[in-house]
Amino acid sequence: MSRERIAVGETYREQALINNERYLDMYQRSIDSPETFWAEQAQRLNWRKPFTQVKDVSFAKEDLHIRWFEDGELNACENCLDRHLPERADQIALIWEPDEEGAEVVRYTYAQLHEEVCKLANGLKAMGVKKGDVVTIYLPMVPLISISMLACARIGAIHSVVFGGFSPEAIAGRIDDGHSRIVITADEGKRGGKSVPLKHNVDNALEHCQHSEVEKILVLRHTQGNIDWHEQRDVDLAELLKEQSPDCPAETMNAEDPLFILYTSGSTGKPKGVLHTTGGYLTYVSLSHETVFDYKAGETYWCMADIGWITGHSYAVYGPLANAATLVMYEGVPNYPDCGRMARLIEKHQINIVYTAPTAIRALMADGDTAVEGTDLSCIRILATAGEPINPEAWRWFHDKFGNNTAPILDTWWQTETGGMMITPMPGATDLKPGSATRPFFGVQPALMDNDGNEIQGAGEGSLVIKDSWPSQMRTIYGDHQRFIDTYFSTFENCYFSSDGAKRDEDGYYWITGRMDDVLNVAGHRMGTAEIESALVAHKTVAEAAVVGIPHDIKGQGIYVYATLAADVEASEELRKELRNWVRQEIGPIATPEAIQWAPGLPKTRSGKIMRRVLRKIACEEYDQLGDTSTLADPHVVDDLIAEHKALA
Ligand code: WTA
Repeated sequence: MSRERIAVGETYREQALINNERYLDMYQRSIDSPETFWAEQAQRLNWRKPFTQVKDVSFAKEDLHIRWFEDGELNACENCLDRHLPERADQIALIWEPDEEGAEVVRYTYAQLHEEVCKLANGLKAMGVKKGDVVTIYLPMVPLISISMLACARIGAIHSVVFGGFSPEAIAGRIDDGHSRIVITADEGKRGGKSVPLKHNVDNALEHCQHSEVEKILVLRHTQGNIDWHEQRDVDLAELLKEQSPDCPAETMNAEDPLFILYTSGSTGKPKGVLHTTGGYLTYVSLSHETVFDYKAGETYWCMADIGWITGHSYAVYGPLANAATLVMYEGVPNYPDCGRMARLIEKHQINIVYTAPTAIRALMADGDTAVEGTDLSCIRILATAGEPINPEAWRWFHDKFGNNTAPILDTWWQTETGGMMITPMPGATDLKPGSATRPFFGVQPALMDNDGNEIQGAGEGSLVIKDSWPSQMRTIYGDHQRFIDTYFSTFENCYFSSDGAKRDEDGYYWITGRMDDVLNVAGHRMGTAEIESALVAHKTVAEAAVVGIPHDIKGQGIYVYATLAADVEASEELRKELRNWVRQEIGPIATPEAIQWAPGLPKTRSGKIMRRVLRKIACEEYDQLGDTSTLADPHVVDDLIAEHKALA
C-alpha cells in the first residue's frame, strides 16, 4: 500500500457533479435510508408505471430474495433511445471506428440508432422471437452488437452475448444452457488485421450442442468472407431488414423482468449464467456512469472493453445510452497497426473520457513513449480502468502520458455479478492513491471478514463482502438458483461474498488484493482453473491436469499448466504444442497457457485434494515458501516437480 495521495485538482473539485461534501452526504443518505435514496435516483428513468415498492431483499440463505422497484414497469431500450429523441434526435450516439486505420468511420445519431433498433426488433419478431426468449449474440465490435442488444430489450427478449473470442465449444455450452433458438452473428470479425471466422464457429458450435434448439442464424455480411450457407436455417440480415418497418412499439416490462444473461467463470464447474434484470440495473448503471465519469452533455466517451464482457454491457451500452452520451466503439485492438493507434484514435475523435483495462496500458507502456508520440491528448479529461488491479507504475505512466499529469485515473472495482461499479473514486470528490479503488459507490456497504466470519473494524485485511443489496445486483444464476445461493451467500452469513480479498487503510480506502478462489484474471479476462483443467483432460493424452496463475508483466496473470499424461503416452515438444492449441480451440485464444509442465504426479492430500498452493509456489520458483507439505500423500512428488520446473526454465 503506497502512502502517496494525489489530491483532487481545483478544476475537478469546482466543476464536477459530485464533490467530497456531496459524496459524503449522498453516501450517508444512501446507507441510512436506501429506500428514499433509490426511489429518488430511479426518477432518472422513464417509468411506464411508477413503482410503489423500492426494495424487498433478504440475504438470509433460507429466504434469499432480491427485488428492486418490483411493481414498476418500464422498457430499457425506450430509456436508452426513445426518450432522448425530442431533444437529441440529431446528436451523435455512436461513432464506429473500424479495425483498418483510415477506413470509413460510421456515425449514428440517436434517431438513426433508434430506427436501426426498431427494424431489427421487428425482424426478430418476424422470426418468431417473443418476450422471455433467449437470443444468443456472437458478434465482433460493430454497431450491430449494441443494436441487437437493444432490439432484444425492446421486445422483451433476453440477450446472451458470447464474447467474439470464444471457441465453438464455449458457444455451444452457452446456447445449450440458455435454450436459445436464435443466434445473431457475422460472417467474420476483424481484429488487428486478422479475420475471425465467427459464422464458421457458430456452425461448428451447433454440432457440439447437446440439445440444440437453434432454428435460425441471423448473419451480418461484414467482411463478405466465404461462409457455408444453410438455406433452411441461415438468414441474411440485410434481406431481413429490407422488409421491416422502422416503427416498433417497446414492450412493457416489469422492473424485475430479465434483461440479459452473461456467462462468467467461477471456481468450479461450467460458466455461470449471471442474470440481470431491468429497473434496478438500468438505474444503477446510469447513475454510476454519470457520477463516476462525471459525464456532461456533449462529451465524447470511449469504453474500450469488448461488449462481450460486463464492462461493455454496462458502460459501453446501457449506462451511457441511458444518459444520452456520445459513444465511441472501436472494432480492433489498441496496438494495431502499431502502439500509437489508441492515442491517435483519442485525438481523432477528440475523446474526453476513456475507460480501459490495466493490461492494455501495460502493453502500450512496454513500447515506452512511442504510444503517444506525435499526438495531442489535451482533449482527455478523465481516465478510468476496470477488471484487475492497476499497478502503481502503470497508473503513473498512464496519468503522465495520456492524462497530462492532471486527468484523474479512476480505478473501479466491480464484477459481472455486481452489474455496476462498487468501489470507485469520483473525479471531483476523491483524492487518489495509485493502486486503490478507494471508496464505495452510493448504496454499497463493503465489509472485510476474518476467517471466523467476524467483521474486521478499521484498517485491516480480509474477505471482501457486501452487507446489503444494491439495485444492479445479479438476481440468480440462470437455471440454477441453488448454485447462486451456495456460491455467494453461504460463506458468510447474510452477506454477499465477492470472492475477492481486500485491505482497508486508515483513510477507509479499499485495496483489492485479488481472488481468493481458483479464478484467474488473465489480461482482465476472468477464467476458472477448473474450466481449463477440464479442457485439458478432455484430450486423450492427458490423465490429469492442474492449472495455476503465475505473475505476468503485461497480462497480470498467465496460465501455468501441470499435466499428467496417460500411461502409454510419451512427453514431447510436439505434444506440448498440441495441448496449447487444444486449449485455444476448446475455450479460446485468451486461455492459451504460458507454459505446460509435465507432472508425473500431483501433490495431493491424503483425501485426494490437489494442493494448489504448492503448485503455485513451484511455478513462481518460490521453493522456500512451499509451506507445510507433510500432509501430502506423497511428499516426494514435490521434489520431482521442482526438478521438472527447473528443466523447463
Ligand atoms: C477483478 C469485471 C482489482 C476482481 C468488471 C473481480 C479487480 C473480478 C478490479 C471480476 C479492480 C475487477 N481492481 N481487481 N479495479 N475490477 N477486478 O466479472 O478479482 O470480469 O472479482 O468483472 O475482476 O471480473 P469480471
